[in-house]
Amino acid sequence: MTAPLDIVILAAGKGTRMRSDLPKVLHPIGGRPLVQHVVDSARALGSDRIMLVVGHGAEKVEARLAADDVRFVPQTEQLGTGHAVQQALPHFRDDATVLILYGDVPLTSADTLRKLAEAVTDTTIGLLTVDLPEPGGYGRILRDANGRVEAIVEHKDATEAQKRITEINTGIMAAKAKHLQQWLPTLSNDNAQGEYYLTDIIAMARRDGLGVHAAHPDHPEEVEGINNRQQQAALERYYQRRQAEQLMVQGVTLMDPARFDCRGRLTTGRDVVIDVNCVFEGEVMLEDGVTLEPNCYLKDCVIGAGTQIKANSVIEGARIASGCAVGPFARLRPGTQLADGAKVGNFVEIKKATIGAGSKVNHLSYIGDSKLGAGVNVGAGTITCNYDGVNKFLTEIGDNAFIGSNTALVAPVKLGNNTTIGAGSIITKDVPDEELAIARGRQRNIQGWQRPTKKS
Ligand code: UD1
Ligand code: CA
Repeated sequence: MTAPLDIVILAAGKGTRMRSDLPKVLHPIGGRPLVQHVVDSARALGSDRIMLVVGHGAEKVEARLAADDVRFVPQTEQLGTGHAVQQALPHFRDDATVLILYGDVPLTSADTLRKLAEAVTDTTIGLLTVDLPEPGGYGRILRDANGRVEAIVEHKDATEAQKRITEINTGIMAAKAKHLQQWLPTLSNDNAQGEYYLTDIIAMARRDGLGVHAAHPDHPEEVEGINNRQQQAALERYYQRRQAEQLMVQGVTLMDPARFDCRGRLTTGRDVVIDVNCVFEGEVMLEDGVTLEPNCYLKDCVIGAGTQIKANSVIEGARIASGCAVGPFARLRPGTQLADGAKVGNFVEIKKATIGAGSKVNHLSYIGDSKLGAGVNVGAGTITCNYDGVNKFLTEIGDNAFIGSNTALVAPVKLGNNTTIGAGSIITKDVPDEELAIARGRQRNIQGWQRPTKKS
């Protein structure tokens, strides 16, 4: 039987260099808090005991990450990484393998972590290291004459010779719970920073005759931590690039993968084309043959097969069927539903409205709280007056209605099938099927009208 997997995520630090009121681990990559990525990876590994060590901003972190499978472990004083893991000791299962992760290192792949955890035995601990040409302030990996990992020395405690070592400690490690239970209580803080270093357990393992298995990530970005906004932005680009690559592998055309941002989940059919600067949030589905022109924002929506979204459109909480055309410069708000072949043109706003098959709202309109049948033509500048300042009311428009330009439809109001509305009308009463309604001042022409002339 394989050992249970306990995962500790350290997330108590302050993150001073973010210069933010938001705890560092709640800052986003790809629209998700850093620490959420780590928790999601822990879940992907199949762990049923995830411990989050929290300190700075603990209430905010707990509020955001609360879940049945996450235990919050308070660390009221941040006395070092070893001290942080000590706080979680009482929660370890005796026979578990324990994996230690960092709330500000969001993109380690589940594959890399699985390999590390699998290397752990009763006589081996696992350590994730990486070779960095510029090892900066990281802890350095010390190896013996046979190339075996002996210890980690922190940058601040290192000699000049040790500082030249380019293999660094990512911080991520794994060991048997029983070993951590032995070693952690014996850590001392007699070092340059006066902290309890988790890294000291490597030397303890060697002292006790264990081996250290050093694993490496496939990509160095997997172990990059975030301490400031520049690093956050750099890792965001890496994350987006990776998503873009995946989409292209699935057959999506991205006109420029460097100008693609998905901060949620994007599902795509075959032969989808996405032009530059489109941003996706929440759950977005693009069915077969959808094309998106430049600069579109899509959040929580489904776009049906063959639909074309033209440049600069904003779509949120909408369901759009097949063969529709939207934009340029359209705004579809929550509750919008377009049936097959509907067209919504420029400077049109639609909210909480269904637009029937083949209906057109092509220019400069506001359609809110409405139900439009099939084959309706809404003229330019038509507005549904859905709000009396207190309540919202419904506008219903039957199949094949033709609404002349610049019409105001004062809801609640119902236009029947095949109705025609004269341009410039203010419609306040229902219109029966087949009828024409005109509600505007009659035109009067004055014969022999003299224009005023300038007084001399
Ligand atoms: C640590 C490692 C170093 C490694 C580096 C990788 C130690 C002693 N050093 O150094 O070898 O190269 O990570 O980034 O482990 N944290 C707590 N409670 C604490 C202290 C830290 O939760 O008391 C959390 C922080 O929020 C952070 C993480 O642990 O997410 C790392 O802490 P940090 O102080 O940044 O460690 P480093 O000095 O960078
Ligand atoms: Ca750090």
